[in-house]
Amino acid sequence: MKVIKKIDEVRRVISGIKSQGKSVGFVPTMGYLHEGHLSLVRESIRIADVTVVSIFVNPAQFGPREDFDEYPRDLDRDSEVLKKQGVDYLFVPEADEIYPQGYKTYVEVHDLQDKLCGRSRPGHFRGVCTVVLKLFNIIDPDISFFGQKDYQQAVILKRMAKELNLEVKIDVMPIIREGDGLALSSRNKYLTQEERKAALVLSRSLEEAKSMVGKGQTNSATIIKEMKEMIGRESLAKIDYVEIVDAENLDPVARVEKEALAAVAVFIGKVRLIDNIILSTEE
Ligand code: PAF
Repeated sequence: MKVIKKIDEVRRVISGIKSQGKSVGFVPTMGYLHEGHLSLVRESIRIADVTVVSIFVNPAQFGPREDFDEYPRDLDRDSEVLKKQGVDYLFVPEADEIYPQGYKTYVEVHDLQDKLCGRSRPGHFRGVCTVVLKLFNIIDPDISFFGQKDYQQAVILKRMAKELNLEVKIDVMPIIREGDGLALSSRNKYLTQEERKAALVLSRSLEEAKSMVGKGQTNSATIIKEMKEMIGRESLAKIDYVEIVDAENLDPVARVEKEALAAVAVFIGKVRLIDNIILSTEE
């Protein structure tokens, strides 16, 4: 695996690969890799001829009071793990390579960016779209991989790619969970043992929603009430949102018809965690 820091160099390498007619798979990450990331990496290795992973903790997607400085970083461990998986190139740009002094250009997907997580993290998706478009322009991948845990991110990036006529295909891979249901996230590292236990309330509330739909309950308000009560019983948990929305446009739905997304964001202590599940009346 070759580690590349500079945009010019990664462009040179990729154009060499493309001139041989090979396909490029790309997994953008912010590092501190876990099995969720690795499932994307393995899929890229399976599908594409050459796999590029990027690690860049993107300042533009963190709010002023968010955890940019504390965000966990471990480049040595990440590089080892990626090498073992068989990744071909690791791109690790410096912040001033991506955002040189005086940087002014940002990408926004209106409306979709303001829902769910966008309400409590204004500017977050603008930062995500901007960095991902820049990375797409630099790496020029044929296919790129994202996780369903960041469901809204995936919907927004797909919309961006469609509306900006990008040729890259975006693949969304299932959420990877611990044995007890906790969705993997780099932010789980912040949790104390007690908080780690309390955090199970996210996946439990989503499972409850699924089971209610399975038993014929399709009224969103009733399901949300039950989920909120369950989360409310966990003393370390503070709800940011609990919503049932259309899986494509992310607008709230009054009833689960065919398919909808149940999405939650909950503070466990100071740590904000998200999780989601597809609810289906057809299972
Ligand atoms: O999902 C993430 O880790 C980040 O939002 C991404 C897509 C790498 C952009 O910084």
